[in-house]
Order: sequence, then structure tokens, then C-alpha cells
Amino acid sequence: MPRVFASIEELRRHVAGRRRSGASIGLVPTMGALHAGHARLMERAREGCGEVVASIFVNPLQFDRSDDLERYPRTLDADLAVCERAGVDTVFAPSVHEMYPVPMVCAVDVQRLADHLCGAFRPGHFRGVATVVLKLLQIVQPDVAYFGEKDAQQLAVVRRMVTDLNVPVRIVGVDTVREPDGLALSSRNQRLNAQERELAPCLYRALQAAAAAIAGGITDAAEVRRRALAELPEHPLLRLEYLDVVDREEMQPVTSITGPVTVAAALWVGGTRLIDNISSRPGQL
Ligand code: PAJ
Repeated sequence: MPRVFASIEELRRHVAGRRRSGASIGLVPTMGALHAGHARLMERAREGCGEVVASIFVNPLQFDRSDDLERYPRTLDADLAVCERAGVDTVFAPSVHEMYPVPMVCAVDVQRLADHLCGAFRPGHFRGVATVVLKLLQIVQPDVAYFGEKDAQQLAVVRRMVTDLNVPVRIVGVDTVREPDGLALSSRNQRLNAQERELAPCLYRALQAAAAAIAGGITDAAEVRRRALAELPEHPLLRLEYLDVVDREEMQPVTSITGPVTVAAALWVGGTRLIDNISSRPGQL
């Protein structure tokens, strides 16, 4: 079983000892309810680093809805088993009080990159993400930190924060792990009932249609969007929040596709909000 620390000070002491003995430090930040997508990040860290630290912390700062925060699954025992199987050495699982002992007066302000996609629909979300990720990077001081492509806007924000604020860490993006029918693994999938679960893969089908259109030479983003939307059935349980073609660095919507882009979407399936994205470039699937 991995060693589990709830205290910042004790974790730091442990990591410092590992660093002194020559181990490179890898960090995998998570909010728990771990699945094979998280495990893939941990396995990548295991391959690349001498000491693998996973953090499990449901970060209140990044939730724009209190019901979502309350309903977020908390499954520490099962999570530790996933960490063990994936080769994690150390789990950092602090309390909210340990991370936020006093109300914060400083935070990481994210501009531009947070203006569209999830950022437009979840006010303050990326400010909360960037702030907690910076805190975790300061606490663990890893050489490498691993994030999923599944949350492409989050990955772009983290990469940019590390560049803008000169944080000495290498950020590695890891491909999305999917169910056989294409549905991206997510802690939120647990909330889908049988009918919703059956509908959910239409999100990835829509993104694949967009990627195929781009690869096939369609450069008009509006046309790409139309082709994607055609894959989403009219159904009372489905409500599209957004589906946009954006550039990969700054997540800004493009009208004409001339280089690598990400097609990103958020879809409500019943009461569950799912996000996914796909990368494409003209003439290449
Ligand atoms: P969480 O949703 O738990 O995700 C933790 C990491 O796992 C993220 O980097 C996410 O992109 C990655 N991930 C999730 N599903 C994946 C999948 N199907 N395939 C590959 N990787 C996947 O993202 C967060 O937590 C938080 O915002 C956090 C970064 C921990 C800050 O609180």
C-alpha cells in the first residue's frame, strides 16, 4: 500500500528525503474517485520517476455549484487500492482545512485561456484549478506533473501557468482513456443511469465526426460544428452546453481551420455534465 499523508509538513519531509536519495519526483493531482484514466497517469509517472506522489483532494475552490461539490464521490479506500495497483509510492490526501486553513486572499488569475468552453460556463473554475495546482506544485515540488488530455482546457491552463509564473516543473499530457464504446472515463460517469449511459457515447461520436471532417479538408469551423451536431440525437435527456473548435494553445474559437485544433464539447446527459475533446489538423486524422 502507498504511504498516505494528510499533513503538508510530513509529506514535504518525506519527499525531501526521497529527493536527497536521488529519486526524481512525479506528481499526479486528482480529486479521487479514481478510475483507469487516473491509473494511466500514475503508470506514466511510474515509468518516468523514482518517487510517484498522487494527490487526492476534492478542491472546493474549483466548484461553481455547491450541489456538485457535495455530490462528488469520495472513495478513499478504493482509491488507495487503485494507487497501489498503479505503482504509486505516496498519497497526499489533505483535509480542506489543511489546504485552506484561512480564507485565501491570493489566487491565480487566469485570463484568455479561461474565456471560452468550460471557463465560460463555470465562473471561477479555472481560477480554482490553477490555484490548487500551484499550491500542490509548491507543496510537492515535483520534477514532472501529469495531467490528462481529457481536460484539454485545464491542461492548457496548467501549461501556461507554469510558463507564465516560471514554475520549475515539466508538465506531461496523457491521452484520454475510453470505454470500448468511446465514452471517456470520468468520475461523473457513475452518476449515469442505464438509459443515460447508453446515450452518453454520442458525445465522442460527435467529436469524431468533427475530426473526420477536418481531416477530410473542411476548413470552415461552422461546417465542422454542423457535422458534429448531426451526430447528437434529439432526446429530452440530452442538452448540449457547447461544442467549439479552438486553437490548442490558448483555447480560442477559430472560424477557419488552418492548423492543429481541438474540438471540445460539454453535454448534459440527464443531470450529469460530461466533457470531452478531440484533436485534429487539416488533412490528418
Ligand atoms: P480529476 O477530475 O480527478 O482528474 C485528475 C486527472 O486525471 C486530470 O489530469 C484529468 O485530466 C485526468 N483524467 C480524468 N479522466 C481521464 C481519462 N479518461 N483519461 C486520461 N486522464 C484522465 O482534474 C482534476 O481532477 C482537478 O481539476 C485537479 C487537476 C486534480 C485539480 O483539483
